[in-house]
Amino acid sequence: MMIKPELAKKLIEQVRNEFAASLQYLAIAIYFEQESMDNTAAFFYAQAAEENEHGMKLLRYVVETGGNAELLAIPAPVAKIKSAEDAFQTSLNWELEVTGQINALMDMAKQQNDYLAENFLQWFVNEQLEEVTTMEKLLNLVRKMGDKNIYMLEQLIKHAE
Ligand code: FEO
Repeated sequence: MMIKPELAKKLIEQVRNEFAASLQYLAIAIYFEQESMDNTAAFFYAQAAEENEHGMKLLRYVVETGGNAELLAIPAPVAKIKSAEDAFQTSLNWELEVTGQINALMDMAKQQNDYLAENFLQWFVNEQLEEVTTMEKLLNLVRKMGDKNIYMLEQLIKHAE
């Protein structure tokens, strides 16, 4: 076994967090689809698929390094989405939380002198910068548009990723 049990446990918790994020983004995608904002819905369906990939990437790492990969229950998405601003604020909060979780994993890998895990986790560190920046920009735009002009988002979001 190349991975220490404590780190494997934390990585499996992160698998759960990423799958939970995927469900959260699905819920947001459904909200926008029901609001007839199909481009914005497509953006969030793609986010959901990405989170699923993140979860799988973490899971594969634990399996490949011989850790215990017993899966955990995935929590349901948080409260119903009330508005476009709420959707983007929820997304940004989520990404900031995930950034903290990834940093904590990196701290543990460093404490354990696990260079392989450090190298693996660096990809997630970089990914979080992109995800947080994207959500911050979109939240800012949504606030500027306000409810009246929210359908402008449909044009802008096509170029957001
Ligand atoms: Fe997998 Fe959006 O963090």
